[in-house]
Amino acid sequence: MTIIVTGGAGFIGSNYIFYLLEKHPEDRIICLDKLTYAGNLSTLASVMDKPNFRFVKLDICDREGVYQLFEDEKPDVVVNFAAESHVDRSIENPSIFLQTNIIGTSVLMDVCREFGIGRFHQVSTDEVYGDLPLDRPDLFFTETTPLHTSSPYSSSKAGADLLVMAYHRTYGLPVSVSRCSNNYGAYQFPEKLIPLMIANCLADKPLPVYGEGLNVRDWLFVDDHCKAIDLVIRKGREGEVYNIGGHNEMRNIDIVKLICHELGKSESLITHVTDRKGHDMRYAIDPTKIHTELGWLPETKFEDGIRKTIRWYLDNKPWWAEIISGEYQNYYAKMYGDREHLR
Ligand code: NAD
Ligand code: TYD
Repeated sequence: MTIIVTGGAGFIGSNYIFYLLEKHPEDRIICLDKLTYAGNLSTLASVMDKPNFRFVKLDICDREGVYQLFEDEKPDVVVNFAAESHVDRSIENPSIFLQTNIIGTSVLMDVCREFGIGRFHQVSTDEVYGDLPLDRPDLFFTETTPLHTSSPYSSSKAGADLLVMAYHRTYGLPVSVSRCSNNYGAYQFPEKLIPLMIANCLADKPLPVYGEGLNVRDWLFVDDHCKAIDLVIRKGREGEVYNIGGHNEMRNIDIVKLICHELGKSESLITHVTDRKGHDMRYAIDPTKIHTELGWLPETKFEDGIRKTIRWYLDNKPWWAEIISGEYQNYYAKMYGDREHLR
């Protein structure tokens, strides 16, 4: 098969490319990525020379460019990871989120229709379901939970999901959608919670916890997400949504304390700062459908995954040190400089 992976120079897309090249060496993989601030070509350095891999710098909103690539490569499957993905950035500047996440997805699907693709898979998020209250631990998101979004990011992802399902119903496009909980692992951009706290801890910088830090996220090791997506594109039913998550709910404050502990740093680095606007309280996935239909279960326990992740950031400092030495400094000053310290 020829598989186009969009957004493959980002966190999850790159891990998925490594997974594919290892697990399915018979497949040809084309990575299409615009290389925004979140895309990093050095992440793909180890696979660049493989004969069954090709990297193409392209914006998914560039209809002509995408059409030409399909003409050249005649892909069988498209897995769409390309997105603006950071909630805090979406609060600052929503428009690029609508452009890439919704318009870009529609361009890909139009071209998929034109070329009679075998499967278009949309990588989505549990954030499209909104949040759950902290005092109802019995509640979980299922695939039939109504979409109910909080941020411009989650709204743009929900808009894309609706469009993907509409292309299935209206045009019969063979699609699938997966909605995953928070991922962690190697190559995550250091503006997201876990890598940011690791980097700040190592530099003895304050650890900015939004509000009380009681918000709950359902963390999944990135390799387990990659395995789930691969099962869905090969064995999952067309026109279906699959939730992906491993019942691993943790409060932000507990994650940050654990990182301090693992790195031998004092919890006094923790600084409570002004909360995120519209901050979702709790995400929790019910993964029953993907388990019963496709036999998927997460394989990495959080204690092991977080240690592996911390080890990876310790061993790969040049990768993230390079990132946080550039434009990231301006981002950090802007996003954190004027946040009030709560105590
Ligand atoms: P990321 O921000 O690390 O990577 C996104 C990649 O997309 C980057 O390489 C970027 O250059 C590329 N990109 C952005 N705009 C583009 C455009 N217009 N054209 C082509 N490429 C473009 O994101 P991630 O964390 O790897 O997330 C990947 C996907 O998974 C996203 O769709 C996200 O919504 C979804 N998701 C992420 C998580 C998570 O915890 N990170 C959880 C569930 C779902
Ligand atoms: P994030 O990694 O941005 O993922 P998402 O918002 O998609 O869940 O944030 C995870 C949680 O950590 C979220 O509740 C916000 C919180 N958070 C902080 O407390 N401080 C930070 O500096 C960041 C980036 C996030």
